[in-house]
This record gives sequence, C-alpha cells and structure tokens, in this order.
Amino acid sequence: MQTGQRDSFGSRFGVIAAAAGSAIGLGNIWRFPYVLGENGGGIFLLIYLLLVAMVGIPVMLSEFTIGRSTQRNPYGAFRRLAPGQPWYLVGMMGIVAAFMILAFYTVVAGWTLEYLYQALVHGFRGLSSQQLNDMFDHFRGGTFRPILWFLIFMFLTAWIVVAGIRNGIEKYTKVLMPFLFVLILVLDVRAVTLPGAAEGLKFLFKPDLSKISAETILEALGQGFFSLSIGMGTLITYGSYIGKQERLGNTALNVTIADTLIAVLAGIAIFPAVFAFGIQPDVGTGLVFKTLPLIFQEMPGGYFFAIIFFLLLSIAALTSTISVLEVIVAFFSEELHLTRRSATLLASSAVGVLGIFAAGSWGWFHKVEMLGQNFFGILDFTTANILLPLGGFFIVLFVGWFMGTDRVRAELSNDGTIRAAYLPVFLFLVRFVAPLAIALVFMNGLGWI
Ligand code: TRP
Repeated sequence: MQTGQRDSFGSRFGVIAAAAGSAIGLGNIWRFPYVLGENGGGIFLLIYLLLVAMVGIPVMLSEFTIGRSTQRNPYGAFRRLAPGQPWYLVGMMGIVAAFMILAFYTVVAGWTLEYLYQALVHGFRGLSSQQLNDMFDHFRGGTFRPILWFLIFMFLTAWIVVAGIRNGIEKYTKVLMPFLFVLILVLDVRAVTLPGAAEGLKFLFKPDLSKISAETILEALGQGFFSLSIGMGTLITYGSYIGKQERLGNTALNVTIADTLIAVLAGIAIFPAVFAFGIQPDVGTGLVFKTLPLIFQEMPGGYFFAIIFFLLLSIAALTSTISVLEVIVAFFSEELHLTRRSATLLASSAVGVLGIFAAGSWGWFHKVEMLGQNFFGILDFTTANILLPLGGFFIVLFVGWFMGTDRVRAELSNDGTIRAAYLPVFLFLVRFVAPLAIALVFMNGLGWI
C-alpha cells in the first residue's frame, strides 16, 4: 500500500483515545487486580510503577517511533528499517503473540458479556459471596456458554476491524473511555466506604518487603507490558496511523498515565471489597467477577450501575481486542496482499479455533495442563511474561542502537519542527536502562540467574 493511501487517525484526541483504548481494557480491570492479589499487594504495585516508568514508557515511545517512521505493520516496519537483517523476526514474534493474546483475552471479554447478561436478568440480587463464587465457577466450567460468548465477542471485534480505522476504531473509543473512568470513580467511592475497607487499601498500598520474589518482579514486568499494549507491535501498528504533526512523546506519556491511573483506580474499587467480604485476594483469574457484584449489591441503584459497568467494560475490552486483531490484519493485508475483509476473516477464524480451547480450560479441556497451568494459563503466562518482554527488549535495543539517532531525532521532533528536549533522556533509557532492566527481571524471574 502507498503511504498516501493509508488510513490514519482523524484528530489529535482520536490518536490518544485510540491508543488509550488499546491500552485500557481487561488488563487494567481484570488482570491487574488478580495478578496483584496473587503477588503480595503493595509491593507488587510499587515494582509495577517503577517498571512502567523505566521500561514501559521507553518501549511505548519506541513502538510509536518505529511505526510512524515506516508506516508499516511490525513485520514490514523492521523489514524496511533493517533490510536483509533478522530484525523482522521481532515482528513475526509479535504476530504470533497477537494470536495467542486474542485467544485468551477474548475469552475473558466473553465472561464480561455473560456478566452483562446476568446483571440484566437478575442484577446479582440477594446472592451471597459464596453463591457468587459458585456461580462464576459453574459458568466457567461449563461447555457451551463460555464458547458462545467468546465467539460473539470475536465476531464483534472482526466486524469493527473490517470497517477500518477511521470509521471503526476511532469512532467507538473517543466517547466511551471517559465514561468508564467516571464509573470506576463511583465504584471507588462505594468501595472505600464499606466497613472494613481499610484493610484492602492497606493491602494495595502498603508494600510488604518480605513478599518480594523473583517471580513477583517478573509478573509486574509482564503486567506492565500487557496493560500498556506493548512488546508485540500493537503500538507500532497504531503508530503507523498517527499523523506527522502529532507529538509522539506527549502521546506516550498521556497514554501511560491514563492506563496506570485506571489500573490503580480499579484496585481501589476491588481490594476494599475483597477484604470487606472475606474473599481471598489470591483466588486468581475469577477475582473481579467474584468481587464486583458484591459492591453493586451495596449501592443504591446498583442494578443499573452493574449493567452500565459491564457494558462499558465490554466496550473497553473491544477497543483492546480490535487493536490486537488490527496487528494481524495489517500484516496479512500488507505482506500477503489479502483484502482487509479476507485478512480479518482468516485471522479471526484462526483465533476462533484457538479460543475455543482456551474457553474450555476450566471445562471440557481442563485436563490439558503444563507446569500446573491450564491452557488459558499457559497462553496468559507465555505472552505477558515471556513474549512481550522479549519483544520489548528487542524493540528498545533496535531504537537505541540500530535505528540511527538522526532518524529517531527526526521522528520525535517531527522533522525538527518541535522541540523534543527529552531526547537525551529517552536515548539513555532505550540504550541502557530499559534493556538491562528487562534482561535482569526476565532471567531472574525464570530462574536463570
Ligand atoms: N492492553 C490491553 C489491556 O490492558 C490489552 C492489549 C491490547 C494488549 N493490545 C495488546 C496486550 C497488545 C498486550 C499486547 O486490556
């Protein structure tokens, strides 16, 4: 495709909204609390924040830089910047990661639809904590419903991606993200005023140094990558649609701040309730689904809040799934020269098959396990904690050492038309700090050093 014909975002707020729409999703509201709950609470938060600042922002800005300067999907971008060199493998790895992420992420998005449905039909009224727990486990252990919701969500994602960037992605994200933000604030207010809430806030904000471990640090790194949508080329792809007049540094900073804020606000909603209702913070992937209904029960108008919340959460998940599918579709259409429609059909069918297995991880497919993890857990762990950090490592190395300082400077300063005073700091981060931090956390976490 010629550069001039390429689709692009229509407005400045559109860019930030779309990138934030990709970043903000189930990663913040479902994954962040469950991983934090399993990894010692406050200490996890502290390490998470440090890694987001030191590693997350540099990787995100590197992806934008690569994407906008080449106007290509991740694979094509590396091909163009480093012809004849194996860097394109980083792009390939991103495409593989995209398939795996979509397969399990869309399953969770399907759970959200089930909860939207439950909220509509009975509003979780009168159900005890134990009953809600059983309800979730029963639903997820079934065969038909998790698969059905998954397929519905996959279809919705594909439908929007076929429509293209300006008509599809941008239109939906712009309006709805601010709503979600306000609703989470409302939940926060209710949660922190529950009797016994202080215990939860202590868990979230008070670091307990004795709970630190190599695995906790790796989980924090993986969660950072996952939540920011970095390490596999989503933001290379979105970067390729960003207009030449946008300030990439500002965009990366704003998106990171928004994403981190939403995760912390989700934590403030969840943990006070977890402790107030006597739920174990380390119950794992079901945590928010078992906790949130209890908050709604304690709210005036909880019936309506529950519906709106699960609706907005589904939409937040949708703006994330479309960004992942878009990576594969951009690759198929630019490199294999498929039409957008066939590319989308092919990609979503392949994910559809993989996801049916992921959705069955607590039901018909639960017997398949590796290292004590079911199929869903394997996809989740491998992508977040291995493929994304690995991808991020090579992305910062590439921008720091191989892309050429002139090219990086030109991209960040919009060809010298704006000041990018942060450039030396950025170069220091991408050359030394981020790669070293990723390598250390990674090898330490996997027990290699
Ligand atoms: N960041 C999204 C979330 O938090 C999920 C997501 C979208 C993602 N694109 C990604 C995760 C790319 C990893 C890589 O919900």
